[in-house]
Amino acid sequence: MAEIAFRNVNKIYPNGFQAVHRLDLSIADGEFLVMVGPSGCGKSTTLRMLAGLETISSGDLLIAGHRVNDLHPRARNIAMVFQSYALYPHKTVQGNIEFPLRMARLPAAEVKTRALEVARMLELEPLLQRKPGLLSGGQRQRVAMARALVRDPVAFLMDEPLSNLDAKLRVQMRAEIAALQRRTGTTTVYVTHDQVEAMTMGDRVAVFKDGLLQQVDTPQQLFERPVNTFVAGFIGSPSMNLITARREPAGGGPVLVVAGERISLGKGMETRFNLTDADAERVVCLGLRPEDVVDPQLVGEDRRLHGRVALTELLGREQMVYLDLRDGTRLVARLHADRRLKAGEEIAVGIDPARLYLFQADGRALPYRQG
Ligand SMILES: Nc1ncnc2c1ncn2[C@@H]1O[C@H](COP(=O)(O)OP(=O)(O)O)[C@@H](O)[C@H]1O
Ligand SMILES: [Mg+2]
Repeated sequence: MAEIAFRNVNKIYPNGFQAVHRLDLSIADGEFLVMVGPSGCGKSTTLRMLAGLETISSGDLLIAGHRVNDLHPRARNIAMVFQSYALYPHKTVQGNIEFPLRMARLPAAEVKTRALEVARMLELEPLLQRKPGLLSGGQRQRVAMARALVRDPVAFLMDEPLSNLDAKLRVQMRAEIAALQRRTGTTTVYVTHDQVEAMTMGDRVAVFKDGLLQQVDTPQQLFERPVNTFVAGFIGSPSMNLITARREPAGGGPVLVVAGERISLGKGMETRFNLTDADAERVVCLGLRPEDVVDPQLVGEDRRLHGRVALTELLGREQMVYLDLRDGTRLVARLHADRRLKAGEEIAVGIDPARLYLFQADGRALPYRQG
């Protein structure tokens, strides 16, 4: 068992800059956890503290229940794959994979068996006698992973391992790494700034901003129930529309004023929120994913917004429509492409309360309904 736990961990660099604030995060044995966030949010710092390459300013780092803050990187038995694969160019693939075991002075027979086992798992067997110079980028990546895995580490850390690869290979390697992790069951912490990578690979995803963990959840939960406007805007592509809204002081159930128009939420039973009257009063921002904009015919008059088409982008069967709402607010909608829209055209779009997100002044989402 190798559960990893950060307990109130802070990182302050010698120049006084605090890169990680009060981090509390537990990673289960065998889990694939992805850390994601914009550049500079503290992902690499966190990973390097885990690997022992960076000191921890305060708080505790636990591996399998033991405090390892002061344990030498090598004693932690954690494997890290860097962006540059750093393979030995003069050694064969087999020599590269066997190297860590030879350094650990394992018996020759065991070295061979274990290297072969890992090579098989990563489908590197046919390449064992090749030198790295003759391998593709993806193959080199796999050799680097094999070399890390052969030591049977308690955890496997990867910091943006795919950023040097072209788009097509990246998608392929993404699936390969995820599949490999499921086969080995090795606890894995994977860092990326790419939310699509995070959402497709992780059992859970930890979203960071400015050195602060915002939310850690399954991809589904992050998407369905973002805790704040940052996570809401960061997860999903294209980004969620975040539009100023306020509660209309009127009877007949919650009504929001959005871009100068009134949107009826019904009795609150149709939304994903526990919309008490007091909660509804706190709404200052409405979140709407571009793909959740619906046909105005499907909703009542009291659930429509009107705007002028500023721009459209055709994407095969769909189109991205950039709308300027009545008060000038920009709304991005992903609509079916069958209806051709021209710039300048006035259109209505439908709002389905069940798909809305609602936020309060401090950016936090309103309380979601249970279950
Ligand atoms: N050695 C250092 N000294 C001072 N500040 C640093 C150092 N290393 C990183 N930082 C700063 O800490 C913040 C987090 O960096 P990093 O963990 O590399 O972010 P990420 O990997 O999410 O892009 C950044 O603002 C970065 O400039
Ligand atoms: Mg980084």
